[in-house]
Amino acid sequence: MNRRILAAAAVVALAAGGCTDSAPESPPSSPQAAKRDFKPGEDGVGDPYFPTYGNGGYDVRHYKLVVKYDPSTDELTGTATITAAATEDLSRFNLDFVGMSVSSVKVDGADAEDKREDAELVVTPSGGIAKDAEFTVEIGYSGKPVPIKSPDFGEGGFLHTDDGAIALGQPESASTWFPVNDHPIDKATYDVEATVPEGLAALSNGVPGGDADSGGWTTWKWSEKVPMASYLAFLVIGKFRVETGEHKGKPVFTAIDSKLRPGSPADQAMAQTTEIADFLETQFGPYPFQAYGGVVVDDDRIRYALETQSRPVYGGLFFKQGPFTEVVAHELAHQWFGDSVSVAQWRDIWLNEGFASYAEWLWTEEEGGLSVQESFQREYADTDWKNPTADPGRAGLFGRAVYKRGALAVHALRLEVGDTDFFRILKTWTAEKRNGNVTTADFITVAERVSGESLDRLFDAWLIGQSPPEIPG
Ligand code: TRP
Ligand code: ZN
Repeated sequence: MNRRILAAAAVVALAAGGCTDSAPESPPSSPQAAKRDFKPGEDGVGDPYFPTYGNGGYDVRHYKLVVKYDPSTDELTGTATITAAATEDLSRFNLDFVGMSVSSVKVDGADAEDKREDAELVVTPSGGIAKDAEFTVEIGYSGKPVPIKSPDFGEGGFLHTDDGAIALGQPESASTWFPVNDHPIDKATYDVEATVPEGLAALSNGVPGGDADSGGWTTWKWSEKVPMASYLAFLVIGKFRVETGEHKGKPVFTAIDSKLRPGSPADQAMAQTTEIADFLETQFGPYPFQAYGGVVVDDDRIRYALETQSRPVYGGLFFKQGPFTEVVAHELAHQWFGDSVSVAQWRDIWLNEGFASYAEWLWTEEEGGLSVQESFQREYADTDWKNPTADPGRAGLFGRAVYKRGALAVHALRLEVGDTDFFRILKTWTAEKRNGNVTTADFITVAERVSGESLDRLFDAWLIGQSPPEIPG
């Protein structure tokens, strides 16, 4: 579902980078194709913050991931079957993949060459792949997964735990457990089958497909039927207490680390998941996915929550003092802002975090706490206006200017256009951009169209201006 928004940037990267090799590297597959100019796909999608995230030349439709993990040896064995469409005539293409060993790569059933280069897996099929052709890549791999260490974002991706594993993280994590086009611009559907020792749960996104025991192992199946950005794919393995149910005709699946006792604040918070989702639905429009849920992990290294699609993962620390539902409102708000409507480039992350933080204010007010206006005033008084919300820099991706100043900008829009137009803007945005990729400019366009007001100056002041903006109204 790569909208090729980044095509121009990718071309610039190609011109500037080492990829001057334009000759086909493999013989074209048919005489007719001989006239075509098959070229290597780029090693990134052209995101200026993360030049090697994702890859050029194709668009993934579906990942089928079959993995087996043994916590006693920390060994993972996997087969990834990726269905994609070529967006260029390709002589070869990359996937993002970190650690482990690749045992076989097939393209459309035929053996392909593979080469590892840092976090890239370079696949050269025996013949070129024509633009618009749909193709499948089947990759067999195994080994001890390794996490990603980043100076800006700490340790992410696959972490081995006492009794299992947690594969989780933003802006990247997927490449530590399967080969992937690892950038939110390329959303795809997923089927995951994870086999773990009997007695353990293997949790992932989307609709649960059941769990079946065989010979001391249990295979858990999951299906994310709505296109998902790769950083939202997760795998959590371990001892969990599982609760299942149904809400509005959709499955609810929550899992709480067995280290937390039944009836704990984490249990209470998870039990409010559908209630909070229903409240957010009144503010943002229809819930965008086919399942509900949440996973609470009790691991000192997970000091955050992540809006993993249809089923957020929460660090247990959020529920040590009580059922802190603001974080649930935050992660559930991301289901609309970030998961269903996703960024085209990481620089626009405030479109996720500003709105999710704003949802915390909405939920707090709904629960009888501070009004949104009071939360806004407090935050306004406490803001360092030197740091921009839009294009915050790579190291600023998860900074206060993105989360809190972002929420201030959302409320400033509300004060400017009034409640009716404001909620109409939010609902138009989530409906029109559903399953898509967006930019800040897209949001301003929708806000201006729905409100009939010119809003450039307002957004300039609240998103990038260096001094306290004038409060509308
Ligand atoms: N997006 C997450 C949230 O807002 C927070 C987050 C930032 C995060 N970086 C992360 C979560 C890395 C997991 C890993 O809730
Ligand atoms: Zn968030």
